[in-house]
Amino acid sequence: MQTRVLTGITTTGTPHLGNYVGAIRPAIAASRRPEVDAFFFMADYHALIKSDDPARIERSRLEIAATWLAAGLDPNKVTFYLQSDIPEIPELTWLLTCVTAKGLLNRAHAYKAAVDKNVEAGEDADAGVTAGLYMYPVLMAADILAFNAQQVPVGRDQIQHIEMARDIAQRFNHIYGRDFFVLPEVVIEEQVATLPGLDGRKMSKSYDNTIPLFAGGAKQLRETILRIVTDSRTPGEPKDPDSSALFTLFRAFASEAESAAFRRALEEGIGWGEAKQVLYERLEADIAPMRERYESLIARPADIEGILREGARKARAIAGPKIAELRDAIGLRSMASAAAPATDTARRQAAKAARPPRFASFRDSDGSFRFRLFSSEGDELLLSKSFKDPKEAGAVQKRLKTLGGAAATLHSLPRSLVLELDSDPVATTPDYADDRERDEALAYLRAALDLLAEQEKVE
Ligand code: TRP
Repeated sequence: MQTRVLTGITTTGTPHLGNYVGAIRPAIAASRRPEVDAFFFMADYHALIKSDDPARIERSRLEIAATWLAAGLDPNKVTFYLQSDIPEIPELTWLLTCVTAKGLLNRAHAYKAAVDKNVEAGEDADAGVTAGLYMYPVLMAADILAFNAQQVPVGRDQIQHIEMARDIAQRFNHIYGRDFFVLPEVVIEEQVATLPGLDGRKMSKSYDNTIPLFAGGAKQLRETILRIVTDSRTPGEPKDPDSSALFTLFRAFASEAESAAFRRALEEGIGWGEAKQVLYERLEADIAPMRERYESLIARPADIEGILREGARKARAIAGPKIAELRDAIGLRSMASAAAPATDTARRQAAKAARPPRFASFRDSDGSFRFRLFSSEGDELLLSKSFKDPKEAGAVQKRLKTLGGAAATLHSLPRSLVLELDSDPVATTPDYADDRERDEALAYLRAALDLLAEQEKVE
């Protein structure tokens, strides 16, 4: 079984070396592991909370998408998309908003910091605070919960948001009486390197001490490296590698052997100017091929858009059925089913009276054993795989009878669904004409399994 790992990327600013070494490079490396089902998206709805400049929003999405692709993110292996291409996310945001305690949001760090600042300045507590900032954690919860992400790698400043997502998920599950949402776990990359900036403090946009990753090309990279602050030791004087930003930057890109050689050169008194040239050449060796990819990508925005659209399609194949299931659960369901009794007991009685879905076993032409599940209306819901032993086929039917819709693991393929028991695909649905039909079938199948389970309980 793969673990679904989901990360949102804020689309503000221009990526710098610190972003690359601290976030982009490790995230891409992790996404290559076979046991990881990685989701990456650009949080451009979140970006609206920080910026109301359309040109900046537009540019930033493009640059950041191109950066991640140039750095080696493989869109065929991961699901890579724009948050704003997934209408299910704002839809889920509202469903979650309605179960989220206002008091929970009052405690969010970013909101509290804004209020504290206002109070200190003698302003109205909420001066300049948008409802968007206030709702930030709920939108983030929707990002995560729409896909049942199991792990969310984030920086320390985001831990509270993941805890809130768990809270909100739990509350929804509790109110509507089923485990609709997986509770996401926060993953903190402990040993991720933080890079020093030009002045030796942590490289950060807010200190204005960054080295751009691609912007300005090789020339800009070289010129910025020349501005790194060093001590006043002259050429020939031994330098201390461990207190030098140059060495830390070098090591973030170099092999052990290269780092050892650079350490020796510093200790033997290489001049700072020459050391900067060595650093520049080492960084440029890694960055140049990525920059080339970046430039060719950014020159073809339509191609980037195509990649993101395909990612959105994959993502919506998961979020769509999820939302359909949730809408049904909370009562936003087809009016044709309005006659259905509401309480659990009534439902159980109705199940008893209703003709339940039924199994039909048969022997395949190759001698193996299979079965179908039909709805009470006689539509085929599932076709099992082949079993050598009829007892095995019977045991699977028995499990399905008690499983219940919520516990069923159903994977959406583009035009059909696969049902798994203990990670083992045991049955598939017929093919559907489109996503919509498949999503309806998913909700229907869950309801049918519920009905079976109810029936088992009363018998
Ligand atoms: N808030 C995150 C940040 O500032 C970005 C983000 C938005 C995110 N939605 C997310 C991260 C969902 C993880 C999961 O870094």
